[in-house]
Amino acid sequence: MQFWNSPEFDDHEQVCCFSDAGSGLRAIVAIHSTALGPAAGGTRFMAYPDEQRALEDALRLSRAMSYKSALAGLPCGGGKAVIIGDPERIKSADLLHAYGRYLNRIGAVFVTGEDVGMAVRDMETIRAVCPYVGGTSSAGAGDPSVHTATGLMHGLRAVLKWRFRGASFSDLRVAIQGLGAVGWHVVERLHAQGAQLTVSDIRPERVERAVALFGARAAHPDEVHRSEVDIYCPCALGGVITEESAGQIQARAVAGAANNQLASPAAGQALAARGILYAPDYVINAGGIISGLEEFLKMPGRSGRVDAPLSVRLERIHDRLLEIFDRAARAQERPEVVAEQFARELIKR
Ligand code: NAI
Repeated sequence: MQFWNSPEFDDHEQVCCFSDAGSGLRAIVAIHSTALGPAAGGTRFMAYPDEQRALEDALRLSRAMSYKSALAGLPCGGGKAVIIGDPERIKSADLLHAYGRYLNRIGAVFVTGEDVGMAVRDMETIRAVCPYVGGTSSAGAGDPSVHTATGLMHGLRAVLKWRFRGASFSDLRVAIQGLGAVGWHVVERLHAQGAQLTVSDIRPERVERAVALFGARAAHPDEVHRSEVDIYCPCALGGVITEESAGQIQARAVAGAANNQLASPAAGQALAARGILYAPDYVINAGGIISGLEEFLKMPGRSGRVDAPLSVRLERIHDRLLEIFDRAARAQERPEVVAEQFARELIKR
């Protein structure tokens, strides 16, 4: 595995690989920065084509978590974990417990929660053996995806203000890619606000349900980014915006929950060249981590208090995003470039 020489390495403070033969656990924990506090970041459980891809996913996601926490004003650093394998096939209580015991070895510098392939109940299983776990319904704000969706809606309001001056959701067409935990909540909320919806998922039953419940139009997973809509909202996996797909997007703004939406800097340039506004993913999707703060502050070795109720803290995503759009316009730079510079200043890189 290429590690220090990986293009994603970016001076990570710590990277740990774990395995437990009995349960089949193979996991990587990447800690990018603890400059602002212990690293916080979800655990993703998925099958990867090879170990290098798993490592690079962890490194990329972990750096984004540093940026996300910094720009959300949280006293946390950035980290991320990946468990390698098909969760449908290998996830078990034994495996999650083995994972929790390894997390104890890392101790208080890494705090985790759910991500793709994990659910609140899995976090509760891990928490039985490890205190550094958030996103449980018993001790915290519960399912973070609800709060991610709320934060995303605040971010979308900022996009409406900046790009669609004067428009309300009922004037707009939005394409949502991925009807999972976050995407489904977003679809429900956009429908309640009167938006016209196009939806896509690789699970046809989710799409059929959204079509029946919300009068949404269905799009093929390979075609959804080409939909004739105002906003394209990626809520599935990352890397969906490539130089090629950026050239095919019909929307005037891209704003969604998926982590690492831009496959490369060139993909961001391709969007900007076509005048498409991009809402940096780690700014607009920070609701989940923001919701975990109370629970984080209760963990062993932590102190401090939140400065406002959760609903107010989630609303700040709207202001932060407008601030980034404004800085970007003034600097004649792309929003994701300005957001990264801003975050790196905050984490002193
Ligand atoms: P999820 O696993 O519940 O949902 C993902 C959905 O996308 C699934 O329904 C899946 O079938 C679908 N999907 C997968 N590939 C697809 C494709 N090619 N085309 C269309 N649909 C496809 O995950 P969740 O929690 O909703 O997260 C979605 C994204 O948001 C992920 O990138 C995650 O990292 C990110 N995110 C999630 C947060 C949370 O609180 N859950 C917080 C911040 C970011």
